[in-house]
Amino acid sequence: MARKKLIAGNWKMNKTAVEAEVLAKELVAAVGKITERDIMIAPTFTSLAAVSAVIKGTSIKLGAQNMSSEDSGAFTGEISADMLIGAGVSHVILGHSERRSIFKEDDTFINKKVKKALAKNLVPVLCVGETLAEREAGKADSIVGDQVVKGYAGIPEADAKRVVVAYEPVWAIGTGKTATPADADAMHKHIRDVLAKTYSSTFAEAAIILYGGSMNDKNADELLNMPNIDGGLIGGAALKAESFARIINYTKK
Ligand code: 13P
Repeated sequence: MARKKLIAGNWKMNKTAVEAEVLAKELVAAVGKITERDIMIAPTFTSLAAVSAVIKGTSIKLGAQNMSSEDSGAFTGEISADMLIGAGVSHVILGHSERRSIFKEDDTFINKKVKKALAKNLVPVLCVGETLAEREAGKADSIVGDQVVKGYAGIPEADAKRVVVAYEPVWAIGTGKTATPADADAMHKHIRDVLAKTYSSTFAEAAIILYGGSMNDKNADELLNMPNIDGGLIGGAALKAESFARIINYTKK
């Protein structure tokens, strides 16, 4: 079974609601009717409502960049799954390397969020990836494998099917340095092997695994044509309609 490509934009902490609305309108005009590929954009919390209204009825799906592991209560500054759903969100990025490194989110905490997202019928986009030091020490496979195992911990196969994995080598994020298509594909294959061991080979074959880290309109064709790369999680190049649309319309070889 061929896996459908998912091209996702992580807008990070960029754009006011007004600016986000402009970009969303440009994207609707450029790619809003494409159904051959799944498209998701994740603006900031404060732009969700405005962007949701713009993309309603198009093929573009709405994502959030983070979510609380709790339902409600005394968690100042946090946003719950129900609040995201109320804002029109279907996907949520969890465990991004910036959350892991700057905000000290660990695998147990991220796993709790993945479980919460699944319980609420949101699609969790679980981010994993090694640092440059870990790669240079030959530990990339074990670090990423461990993040995958811990991210899926305690999740039954039927629910785990809805998880999307994003492999984002930390050294490639926002640096202009991209993993070579061969290296990225090898890591995606490794993630698939870990999932096959955790669940089953059928499960691993169907899993959607995105690549993220300086993907742009120039290198997307090569990366997205690799057999184990099922899409992209794009930061910088997702902030301009032209480059993001070009990635969505990558040339299939
Ligand atoms: P860049 O595409 O800017 O490298 O960011 C990648 C990323 O972190 C997406 O989540």
